Amino acid sequence: MKGVRGMEDIGKRHRDTQCVHAGVKRDGTGALVPPIYQVSTFAFKDVDHGAALFAGKADGYIYTRMANPTVQALERAVATLEGGAGGLGCASGMAAIHTTFAATLRAGDHVVSSAFVYGPTRTLLETVLSRFGVEATFVDTSDPAAVPGALRKTTKLIFIETPGNPTLAVSDIAAIARVAHASGARLVVDSTFMSPVLQQPLALGADVVIHSMTKFLNGHADVVGGMIVVKTPEDYADFRKVLNQVGGVIDPFNSFLVLRGIRTLAVRMERHCRNAEAVARFLEGHSKVARVSYPWLPSHPQHELSKRQMRGGGGVVSFELKGGIEAGRTLMNSLRLCTLAVSLGGVETLIEHPASMTHASMGPSARREGGITDGLVRISVGIESADEIIADLEQGLARIA
Ligand SMILES: Cc1ncc(COP(=O)(O)O)c(C=O)c1O
Repeated sequence: MKGVRGMEDIGKRHRDTQCVHAGVKRDGTGALVPPIYQVSTFAFKDVDHGAALFAGKADGYIYTRMANPTVQALERAVATLEGGAGGLGCASGMAAIHTTFAATLRAGDHVVSSAFVYGPTRTLLETVLSRFGVEATFVDTSDPAAVPGALRKTTKLIFIETPGNPTLAVSDIAAIARVAHASGARLVVDSTFMSPVLQQPLALGADVVIHSMTKFLNGHADVVGGMIVVKTPEDYADFRKVLNQVGGVIDPFNSFLVLRGIRTLAVRMERHCRNAEAVARFLEGHSKVARVSYPWLPSHPQHELSKRQMRGGGGVVSFELKGGIEAGRTLMNSLRLCTLAVSLGGVETLIEHPASMTHASMGPSARREGGITDGLVRISVGIESADEIIADLEQGLARIA
């Protein structure tokens, strides 16, 4: 397979161009977009060829868990967008997080993590990694002073999710990278809420970026997938060996769909940001709303940092109603355009209740530590007409007594 003429410098192109062209290599047919190589295994020319492939002495494919041309096209695309040495396509965002922990941690190691992370990330550390001798401390990483205090001699990994799900608290990637590297730890950033279009953690000093591609990268609520992008070729080789063993790889068909989603990522993110900001401003001005969290609102506690570190506020807004959980229940049950469902980052607007849904597995005390109150409502603002999304919220809010 050959690179595409005129696109040899794709790594230096504007992100809008990268979204449309990154990852493409031409096969012998000249197919414009990477076809779906929906196969599990690849034929060898002869025994010596098979042995050379296994020994890493020949280029080619062996078995789809190890490498597949369609999966590689997606991996190249996301690695290009993040400016990393390589990408590793995973079966889900959680598979990407688990693979990262498996590749970097051993018994006796310690992790410092944002307290406001996607619920299952915390649960994975507390209930699975703990059984393998890995300890974790959860702190408010939006306060840079909190991280150094949580470090131990055994801290090997700092894991931050920024903006965090669902509070949208923002952590200072560059400052935390300096703290991590001064103590010999790696910084891993879950950048799912931003996509590579709005935030580039590796350029700010992170060592590893994670995406749940289920969200904005795919953008169409029809794929579960994850991606790890690492900064160095050495990490790429190590992570690849671990992913081959733990086996949580994405398949060719889903890779094709996510790559198709990425082609429109830049324009979708523009609209998500515009609509989410309009929704956040509407909610902030509404008499039944107690508080709104959205990084592009001047009232957001890390608004200045957000403006420095990100290119837009993203598509997710969280808010609390004055009437608490009961008011939230009335609102969520009254909406007609916005759908009551978990997940986020798709073209359609979704609304959910973190305490009883996405963050239920954490339990009440971990939720309190992560700032997730029982009355918090999360909305993933889609790319429909902003006026119609707001009108739907308005009629729902009017039903609250
Ligand atoms: C920030 C974040 N990270 C990771 C995940 C996990 O991704 P997946 O559901 O693709 O496993 C999610 C899912 O909602 C998420 O919001």
